Amino acid sequence: MIVAANFKMHKTRSQTQEYLNELKKIKFNGVKVALFPPASALMEDKIVGAQNAYPAINGAYTGEIGLEQLNEFNIKRVLIGHSERRHILNESQKFIAEKFNFYKNQGFEIFYCIGEPLEIRKKGIEAVVEYLKSQIEGVDLEYEKLIVAYEPVWAIGTGVSASLEEIKETHKEIRNFTSKPILYGGSVKLNNIKEIIEIENVDGVLVGSASLDVNTFKEMIKIAKDMK
Ligand code: 13P
Repeated sequence: MIVAANFKMHKTRSQTQEYLNELKKIKFNGVKVALFPPASALMEDKIVGAQNAYPAINGAYTGEIGLEQLNEFNIKRVLIGHSERRHILNESQKFIAEKFNFYKNQGFEIFYCIGEPLEIRKKGIEAVVEYLKSQIEGVDLEYEKLIVAYEPVWAIGTGVSASLEEIKETHKEIRNFTSKPILYGGSVKLNNIKEIIEIENVDGVLVGSASLDVNTFKEMIKIAKDMK
C-alpha cells in the first residue's frame, strides 16, 4: 500500500521539516510513504520527492530545477503529469513524456498522474479510457519504478471524490495498461480513505489538501497499515 502527500504550493521549508519530524514518530510498517513538498522545501530524506523537474541536468531554463538540484538532496522520486501542470501550466503530452523518459533514464521512481476532466467523464467510461490513453502516450507503463496515479480532475480539491464504482471501473481499465501500482487521488479524506483503498486495483492514494495536516496524514497511514 502506498500513501503519498502532495503539498502543491503549500508550506515553507521549516514547516515541511517540522511536519517530517512529526511524521517520523510513527512506524510505516510496510506502507510506502511519499511526500512531495514545494521545490523550496526539498530536503534529503528517503520519503521526499519533487513535484516537478525539468528534463535536463542543468541549463538555461529560468524558474526550473533539474537533475543537478535534485541530486544535491539525493532526491530519487518525482511526480510527473499532474493535472495542475497539464492544465494550468499548459504542459503538453510530448513534454510530459520527455520528462518521464529523462527521469526514467536516471532511475527515478516516477509517480505518473493521469485523469480526465468533467466533460469527458460525462461522456462515459469509453471516452474516459480514450482520454487516459492520450495521457500515457510516449510513456513506458511497465517501467519498474513506475507508480500510476489516477486523479480525475473534477475530484481534485472539490471535496467530492469519485464514487467507489467510478474508481473501481476506471482502475480496472487502467490495469489493462499496466501491472504497476495504481493510486487514486482526488478529495481523499480521513472519512473515505478506507473504502477507497479496499477497492480492487487500488494500491494506494495520492492526497492533496487532507495531507497538509500531519495528524490527519498520520491517521491515513495508520488506516493503510491496518489494511495489510
Ligand atoms: P486533493 O486531495 O486536495 O483533492 O488533491 C488531490 C491531488 O491533486 C493530489 O495530487
